[in-house]
Amino acid sequence: METRLQNSFPIIAAGIADHGYAIVDNFLTGYEVDRILALDSFAKNDGFRQAGIGKHRNYQVDEAIRGDQIQWLHYDSAHDPIRVYLDRLHALRVFLKQALFLSLVDVEVHQTIYPTGSYYKRHLDQFKKDDHRRLSVICYLNPDWSEREGGQLRIYLPNTYADVLPLAGRLICFRSDLLEHEVLPATRPRLSITGWMLDQLAELRHL
Ligand code: OGA
Ligand code: MN
Repeated sequence: METRLQNSFPIIAAGIADHGYAIVDNFLTGYEVDRILALDSFAKNDGFRQAGIGKHRNYQVDEAIRGDQIQWLHYDSAHDPIRVYLDRLHALRVFLKQALFLSLVDVEVHQTIYPTGSYYKRHLDQFKKDDHRRLSVICYLNPDWSEREGGQLRIYLPNTYADVLPLAGRLICFRSDLLEHEVLPATRPRLSITGWMLDQLAELRHL
């Protein structure tokens, strides 16, 4: 793997150990982001559905809480530009598993669009009856995003909060069990790939 990426892995591990989260830029290059954005899913808005909250019988769509549209990704059917990202995510998972002594067995990942004006209210990524999500990992896909366009990820910390702009190629990784967060509305569609590192196999999750 490239040195640039190998260098980012220990930085991510240290951030999670010290503060519960880490941010690295250029996890994907501009070229790699452009190849993902050129796929029909993003270029033609093909195959997304309104995201819901809760699991199984508690599942419901409520745009007053969460307005994003999602499409789950599976390695076997994913296009090459997505596989580039999924391969890197697995490499990061293996690194963090060893560096932080976490049980990180698998990932579950969806591609995500927040239409203009939509948001996701303050929440935690673990479900009440399902605590298998250990780390949340999001990579943003928005070239030339500026602060006045909004769309920040706001992470709530003990006495303050941190706002993270969804810049193309930027990766944020944080403790799913610990850090509440929200997505602020934006003035243009906000694109990302959202995932979780799990302590169980993803295929066991929908049984
Ligand atoms: C989520 C989420 C944050 C973001 O999908 O659970 O909080 O920045 N996403 O997109
Ligand atoms: Mn979340």
